[in-house]
Amino acid sequence: MRQRKVKNEEERLEALSVCFIKNPEAQKGRWQEAFGNSKPIFIEIGCGKGQFLIDKAKHHPEINYIGVEGQGSVILRALEKVQSGELFNILFVNTYIRDIEDVFGPAELSGVYLNFSDPWPKERHAKRRLAHSSYLEGYKKVLKQGSTIEVKTDNDELFQFAVEEFKASGLEILEQTEDLHGSQLEARLITTEYEDKFREQGKPIFFCKSQT
Ligand SMILES: C[S@@+](CC[C@H](N)C(=O)[O-])C[C@H]1O[C@@H](n2cnc3c(N)ncnc32)[C@H](O)[C@@H]1O
Repeated sequence: MRQRKVKNEEERLEALSVCFIKNPEAQKGRWQEAFGNSKPIFIEIGCGKGQFLIDKAKHHPEINYIGVEGQGSVILRALEKVQSGELFNILFVNTYIRDIEDVFGPAELSGVYLNFSDPWPKERHAKRRLAHSSYLEGYKKVLKQGSTIEVKTDNDELFQFAVEEFKASGLEILEQTEDLHGSQLEARLITTEYEDKFREQGKPIFFCKSQT
């Protein structure tokens, strides 16, 4: 997803610092302190402009959320939305997750959302997919036992890959559908930007929820 460079990006991120964690590695093992409570923490890796996570935060004050996004210009949009909404249970970090253990400590999280992750269709790039087993092994370390990992995508191949990787990594599949919005699953209720876009095009949304 290419975005035009936002003017004075760094300065604007600074100004929105209330819900922006500048140095996420320094927060490793201390995320609960950043929220000032002991509520469970769920993260979205590649949160884009934050629609999904901000909506989640509004509907679930009993949960803390962290949006992780590699592109500064994109996360800026998310931060601007929160600022006007006065939400206290959401934080954002501007980093590309490579090794999730650089940012989160053991059993620090309760859930991971992978929504419309880059599919990396070429086989030689399979290891870059956020549902690859090497990523899953990292997620399992930073998640508490019984936590969930959820995938939404419009991409059939990525979906089948994710389900196979989940199973191979010993995760239990709790929910699985190739047409989320034709189902009664709760995950259809809060949507992402990409989900809305693909639905408008009449594409089915694939969804899977697994448990550690
Ligand atoms: C296709 S967009 C989906 C955005 C949003 N989740 C949605 O569903 O509308 C994927 C986003 O993931 C981000 N991304 C990709 N790999 C990432 C990584 N390893 N860590 C953090 N962000 C990542 C990209 O910069 C991009 O903004």
